[in-house]
Amino acid sequence: MPDTQNPVVVSGMRPTGRLHLGHLHGALSNWVKLQDQGRCHFFSADWHALTTSYHETDKLKQAELEMFVDWLAAGIDPSRSVLFIQSNVKEHAELFLLLGMITPLGWLERSPSYKEMREQITDRDLSLYGFLGYPVLMAADIILYKATHVPVGADQVTHLELTREIARKFNFHYGEVFPEPKPLLTEAAKVVGIDGRKMSKSYGNAIELGESAAVTTKKIMGAVTDPARKRRQDPGNPETCGIFYLHKIYSDDATVRWVDENCRTAGIGCVDCKKKLLERLAPDQERMREKREALLARPDDVVDVVREGNRRARVEAARTMEEVRRAMHLDLNL
Ligand code: TRP
Ligand code: SF4
Repeated sequence: MPDTQNPVVVSGMRPTGRLHLGHLHGALSNWVKLQDQGRCHFFSADWHALTTSYHETDKLKQAELEMFVDWLAAGIDPSRSVLFIQSNVKEHAELFLLLGMITPLGWLERSPSYKEMREQITDRDLSLYGFLGYPVLMAADIILYKATHVPVGADQVTHLELTREIARKFNFHYGEVFPEPKPLLTEAAKVVGIDGRKMSKSYGNAIELGESAAVTTKKIMGAVTDPARKRRQDPGNPETCGIFYLHKIYSDDATVRWVDENCRTAGIGCVDCKKKLLERLAPDQERMREKREALLARPDDVVDVVREGNRRARVEAARTMEEVRRAMHLDLNL
């Protein structure tokens, strides 16, 4: 973020429960680093979860607390970052409503991820106002804190472009209130699940953050590798193998080169390769497990962290909304 005086970072994650290595290396570890570079706000996007999962809210609270435990275990530091729950800061809803007044339907209907999701999700009816308006809510989440930078995955970049357009339109009508936030494209380390597909809770192929060394080892030893390596002497292509991606995250350069060469020449077998990975991965998982257990032993402390984060978020949100109401001449508050 070299071009910004006082970077303000905002990002959210849908509460889906315990996080896995895909979340860790796709988003969280990046968030942890950003804490050194700007004022960070990280929130549980529980209202967002409703835009596609309005029919299953019973596990939401539990999922939310588990997610916060994982954030803290991964190194999100509440003394530097504001951790909060979207639905606990009602200003998100107010700003969402106001932004809805100036957001053209066409911007939302043309959004590629909207079209794509409408095509892909066929098991429930998504002809819903909330689902169409989800990028407006996301825009509100971001500009409410006057974010300058938003770490997101590639799939969210079009939403961020919309956020910028909405902020620009607001500023045009009512005066300069909001900066236009820039995406910080998370260099998404590719994390493949143990079945070779993208790591995802819903595929049941995930290695959860802080699983014990024993469970992690079992999952890794059973994970699929390059199907070309049916026998030990068959050469493989590491680029097609999830184990190799994990090496790139966990192992040193020399080891990554060693795998790359010896996979292609059948110099090593997959068992050797996996054992080498576990030398780094297993202790890391154990460290994470210990941190999680310490946090889970004191759930009230986790709740206090979020309560304090909510409080800080509300102060900032209230300040922005006062400015917004003034700019829009909605400040006749009798
Ligand atoms: N839409 C994001 C997702 O599904 C979550 C999210 C909601 C978000 N509001 C945000 C991310 C604001 C960044 C900034 O992953
Ligand atoms: Fe994958 Fe390693 Fe086997 Fe190559 S040697 S296929 S990188 S597990």
